[in-house]
Amino acid sequence: MAREVGRAVRSLTIGNLPPVTSPADTAPLVETKGLKHAYKDANTRKQVLHGIDLTIQPGSAVFLTGFSGSGKTTLISLIGCLRSVQDGSLKLLGEELNGASQAKLRTMRRRIGYVFQHFNLLDFLTIRQNVQQSLELQADFSPREAKRRSEEMLDLVGLGDRCNAYPAALSGGQKQRVAVARALVHRPRLVLADEPTAALDSGTGREVIDRFSKLVKQQNSAALVVTHNMRILDAADEIYHMEDGRLAAAVGEQLSLTLPTLSDIQLRSVAGETTKRLFKPGEIVIQQGDEAREFFILLNGAVEVMRELPDGTTQFLARLDERGQSFGEIGLLQDHARRTATIRAVEPGETEVLVISKETFAAMVSDSWQTHAVLKDQMARYMLSYEK
Ligand SMILES: Nc1ncnc2c1ncn2[C@@H]1O[C@H](COP(=O)(O)OP(=O)(O)OP(=O)(O)O)[C@@H](O)[C@H]1O
Ligand SMILES: [Mg+2]
Repeated sequence: MAREVGRAVRSLTIGNLPPVTSPADTAPLVETKGLKHAYKDANTRKQVLHGIDLTIQPGSAVFLTGFSGSGKTTLISLIGCLRSVQDGSLKLLGEELNGASQAKLRTMRRRIGYVFQHFNLLDFLTIRQNVQQSLELQADFSPREAKRRSEEMLDLVGLGDRCNAYPAALSGGQKQRVAVARALVHRPRLVLADEPTAALDSGTGREVIDRFSKLVKQQNSAALVVTHNMRILDAADEIYHMEDGRLAAAVGEQLSLTLPTLSDIQLRSVAGETTKRLFKPGEIVIQQGDEAREFFILLNGAVEVMRELPDGTTQFLARLDERGQSFGEIGLLQDHARRTATIRAVEPGETEVLVISKETFAAMVSDSWQTHAVLKDQMARYMLSYEK
């Protein structure tokens, strides 16, 4: 389900330690195909996952949202080897887990990092000992090396001066930073986080998730983060939405990032009316002079904005390559409703856009004057930059 377009693989260093992975290491870290799960007891059977296809590439932060009971924790616990696979394929770090023995699951579990909602720190250990504990499960660390690395990791999460404190003396945000240090200290390729900001206020949650994503990327690891927190979704490279045990594209979440002025009700109605479209490099998304019929939000890839001048020359206006950037509003907001520029998909790969029809766009701006104002402002800024 996740896109397979290769990502730039970094091999940055953490502190002064050597790089963790070779730059060539670009194989998916997680690949599920038709993954299903049911909870059973003596006389009931409840199907919770109905065939999940999900791919997680190195270096990416994948966020998973969805209503309570939709199956998010079940999925993360299967990927985290906390449950056995019943049906379908789940490859973790290249190894198939369907049919794996308990011993194998235990070994694989050590190669992953976990962050939970309620920190799960041991109260009778200092925070350095809490972090160090996760390294000591790995065979190849002397206690001295483990201590040094743990202190370094705590320094990276901003707690270098609190190594000897006990968890009880820390705030919620600080505890969660310890949990992040503990999850990352053995440099796992994959880190799983189930509601990591749920017990934190929004500012603290934001700070924790920012540090977390930065460190995950520095290690060229990947993260799968389950969250209800709409305010941290911009830290994601990809967002999925779980609905009754099925993965769906998170259109509503993407819309709320691009147009934060839409209310939840509007988000739901607009999300239901959108479609996705793919363009190959070179393909035209909008042709100058055509009638304006749609509004676009960039999901993946890049586009270039060009304008043909009366003298027949072409002027390059802009390149858009950030997920969530929108375009196409100029023709829709202006009376003459003609395209004022040509927009085409460009390298490196396929470009994926969310398409909103003229009618849905009109309803969206008439229902929300703030959204109208945001789009008007964007239009004015584009027009100004085009005139330069
Ligand atoms: N151990 C279990 N035994 C039986 N049923 C379970 C078990 N764990 C979860 N379920 C059921 O499976 C469904 C999915 O649960 P899951 O915990 O995966 O949802 P979730 O998306 O993580 O929800 P939340 O957002 O509330 O954490 C729910 O209906 C839940 O009641
Ligand atoms: Mg859950």
